[in-house]
Amino acid sequence: APAPLVDPFQRAISYLRVSVTDRCDFRCVYCMSENMTFLPKAQLLTLEELDVMCSTFIRLGVEKLRITGGEPLVRKGIMTFFDAMSRHLDSGALRELTLTTNGSQLEKFAPDLAAAGVRRINVSLDTLDDAKFAQITRWGRLPQVLRGIEAAQKAGLRVKINAVALKGFNEDELFTLAAWCADRDMDLTFIEVMPMGDIGNEDRLDQYWPLRDLRARLAERFTLTDLAERTGGPARYVRLEETGQKIGFITPLTHNFCESCNRVRLTCTGELYMCLGQEDMADLRAPLRANPGDTEALEDAIRAAIRLKPKGHDFDYSRQVVDGKMSRHMSHTGG
Ligand code: GTP
Ligand code: 5AD
Ligand code: SF4
Repeated sequence: APAPLVDPFQRAISYLRVSVTDRCDFRCVYCMSENMTFLPKAQLLTLEELDVMCSTFIRLGVEKLRITGGEPLVRKGIMTFFDAMSRHLDSGALRELTLTTNGSQLEKFAPDLAAAGVRRINVSLDTLDDAKFAQITRWGRLPQVLRGIEAAQKAGLRVKINAVALKGFNEDELFTLAAWCADRDMDLTFIEVMPMGDIGNEDRLDQYWPLRDLRARLAERFTLTDLAERTGGPARYVRLEETGQKIGFITPLTHNFCESCNRVRLTCTGELYMCLGQEDMADLRAPLRANPGDTEALEDAIRAAIRLKPKGHDFDYSRQVVDGKMSRHMSHTGG
């Protein structure tokens, strides 16, 4: 077998996040601007190219594949790609095939996803209030997402809810969200909002809600036990002893988890980003297209890219809001 991918800081790369489209049927305020310009189709990796890319990474030791976007389920023909990837689950090379979705298309696709070997999915849901949902997603409609979540559970998929923690927005829903998830046997993870996209246009700084505050709020009502378990992602989990519910925290700002980073991100145009919060990237589409049917050049390009993986991100509200440095949209690198 080829040598596994290890970066200069001795971190093994076993997790690939793949954005299959920059498009989305929502316009979440912390992710996109209202009038987004999307990429012309010719720039996108084709489904066949996505297959070659992912299969090459899997040969080099990637064991977990998370499909993202934009909204991955709006990419035309995406189920063909999921079906193709399921061969790597069957062979045992891939341990997990999963996706992060806004839930809008789950009613349609949940059974197919389950049939392709997907076991767990992450659904982004910041609020259970119709009006607030429409406000934060601009174009999203809550009932459609709730029907999608129900369909996913019916199809046997485990659902984890991801909520971006926004001060003054969903602060008051902390316990409602937790209870709603507990009732439905779903895990719940909160994410600190990261300064990406049109920083100047939004009240991102005002909305920033450090998760240690959220945690303290939870501790007023519940006994919290820190869990050692990890799911291969950056989330750290606590258990609420009174209910047994598990709640995750993703804290890029207050508790940097870069030292254990195991992932890289492939954009829908074939750029490999080494870190969500850095500009370091390598174009993998050129070596792929230049050598059809031969992945050696692609493998070399991947190895060379991994050697450039930075030690960590440097998100910092005080500085970056002033500089406006991370102008890249979250939808570009897939979250
Ligand atoms: P699981 O642990 O398998 O559930 O996956 P995950 O938490 O890695 O995936 P998910 O797509 O649910 O990640 C949720 C969000 O956490 C992402 O969309 C990002 O906003 C954030 N996140 C995930 N990975 C990273 C990372 O490497 N760095 C930073 N800064 N944020 C990340
Ligand atoms: N900060 C934190 N999380 C974000 N997401 C999108 N934009 C941001 C941001 N600026 C989250 C979405 C979804 C995941 C793909 O990324 O809510 O859960
Ligand atoms: Fe779409 Fe997800 Fe971005 Fe919202 S956060 S606009 S659902 S890609």
